[in-house]
Amino acid sequence: MNRQSAPPFLNGWFAVSWSHRLRRGQVVPIKSFGRELVLYRDRDGCAHVLDARCPHLGAHLGHGGRVTTEGHLACPFHGWEFDATGSCANIPYARKIPARAKIHGWPVKEVNGFILAYYHNEGKAPDFDVPDLGIIGDRRWSCHGRREWIIKTQQVEIMENAVDRAHFLYVHNYAEMPEVTHEAEGHRFRAVAKAKNIILGRRIDSVLDITLHGPGCGDVRLQAGPKVCILSSTTPIDETTVIHRMAFMVDRSVNILTRHVVARAVIHRAAQEFTNDIPIWENKSFIARPVLCDGDGPIMKLRKWYKRYLPAQEGRETENGKTDTMDRTEKALERSAPVTPHRASAGAPGGLKPAFSP
Ligand code: FES
Ligand SMILES: [Fe+2]
Repeated sequence: MNRQSAPPFLNGWFAVSWSHRLRRGQVVPIKSFGRELVLYRDRDGCAHVLDARCPHLGAHLGHGGRVTTEGHLACPFHGWEFDATGSCANIPYARKIPARAKIHGWPVKEVNGFILAYYHNEGKAPDFDVPDLGIIGDRRWSCHGRREWIIKTQQVEIMENAVDRAHFLYVHNYAEMPEVTHEAEGHRFRAVAKAKNIILGRRIDSVLDITLHGPGCGDVRLQAGPKVCILSSTTPIDETTVIHRMAFMVDRSVNILTRHVVARAVIHRAAQEFTNDIPIWENKSFIARPVLCDGDGPIMKLRKWYKRYLPAQEGRETENGKTDTMDRTEKALERSAPVTPHRASAGAPGGLKPAFSP
């Protein structure tokens, strides 16, 4: 895909794995942001992400690479070793390490059950953080399952879903259209959707309280008897595909039977509702200047918030010499419109993958 038609990836922290899936000493190949990467955990327990191609003769470090006792990642082809910054730290058979023996090392952090890597279109260092929500590892919460979906769509479509109040009626069969309020503060965007809903055959007041922590991570709070928190992350795999992950956490202060019944119902419904969105996402186009009506949710407010994460390319200078960010945003968003016809995702409908245990 040439650069003109390539959609921009947003800058920010994105999950490249669940934390619990990467053991000490484990090395795995991953693909994110259109790049081949290698993820590994050193002997001290720290996770690292590097570009996957060895600069020597191009072997993929994720296929057969191993973690040395020094914590380096050794290439499977000729044994060159790289440290967590991507610098070559050792060539077992050379006296001198070439100056260009270096690959890109990605900023990494682990929080809320995810291993996050920081992506920036210009390779800049992180300028914000994703907060630790204090749920993973807290005995007051228990994990009742995780799901992940691979979807032929783009980051912004899934983000916008949260504030698109009208679609709840038509895609998710809500009994009524929710009221959606929102607040944007720095790198945090919160949207609260309130409506009557039907859960387990009962008509109840439902509150969907969604907070984004930058463009890649979020949490969803539900009050469904016991408190439920869905920890989520959406990560671009390439220009037209994302992976969306959800971990379902339930407050342990209610009895175990209630907890399991509620968890089962919530997970089933959340997975079902998410699946209902997928055919829309996989076939729609992004419209930078949509025709909205007064009943629609705060879609443009959300766009105003997330435009800071778009690449600063093709900015236009205004008379006062400043870049016209709105123009830049719209151009970037236009480029993100899917241009390829729908292709069915691999596996189950919508790319739904089976859950695996916490
Ligand atoms: S290709 Fe990696 S050490 Fe030769
Ligand atoms: Fe939806």
